[in-house]
Amino acid sequence: MTDAARFYEAQAMKYLDARDRSRVGTGIVQSWARSLPSGSTVVEIACGGGYPITRVLVDSGLTVWAVDSSPTLLRQFRLRFPAIPTQCASALDSDYFGRTFDAVTSIGFLFLLRENEQLAFLHRVSKILRPQGHFLFTAPVEMGTWQDVTTGLECWSLGRATYTRALEREGFRVIRTHIDEGENNYYETEKIG
Ligand SMILES: C[S@@+](CC[C@H](N)C(=O)[O-])C[C@H]1O[C@@H](n2cnc3c(N)ncnc32)[C@H](O)[C@@H]1O
Repeated sequence: MTDAARFYEAQAMKYLDARDRSRVGTGIVQSWARSLPSGSTVVEIACGGGYPITRVLVDSGLTVWAVDSSPTLLRQFRLRFPAIPTQCASALDSDYFGRTFDAVTSIGFLFLLRENEQLAFLHRVSKILRPQGHFLFTAPVEMGTWQDVTTGLECWSLGRATYTRALEREGFRVIRTHIDEGENNYYETEKIG
């Protein structure tokens, strides 16, 4: 288990309480989700308790699967979205239901992994995404490490140039980036091959 996975499980209810009341990121996720054909299959990686992001995906007409490493957060998620298939696993180890998807999203997660894990994760995403599939995730534009002010967790950003190169190696192109009201940066990407 990574430090981040341990942290979110230990602080699950406290985290949930704050995130449940936050709308940060919903505008960008909603525009992205609505740009996909209705009924598209999407796996949300590191879904947390599901509010507000999963709610937006479902309300936008997508068919959702979800993965998170925290048993406590997933228990809450399942109460909220009993029809959504879930898996309690690390994003690096999940079998992703043994299937592929039209789209993948992962908000507030990638930079919790170390560099080699981030690259392994991007490789994993490319394997579960169909050609022309869409992948939306958050990670900073700048390269560097920092300690998250709320959680105290160590975070790692490879920076836009490295993310772009790593994504290209995995068959993606970056369509555009977005910044939300909390100053979080989103990479909107598409799998070409
Ligand atoms: C900042 S929260 C984001 C949750 C949700 N995406 C949102 O926007 O509200 C980070 C999430 O990553 C999950 N997480 C941490 N490490 C993980 C790992 N290795 N694999 C899967 N999920 C992980 C945590 O349990 C937590 O739900």
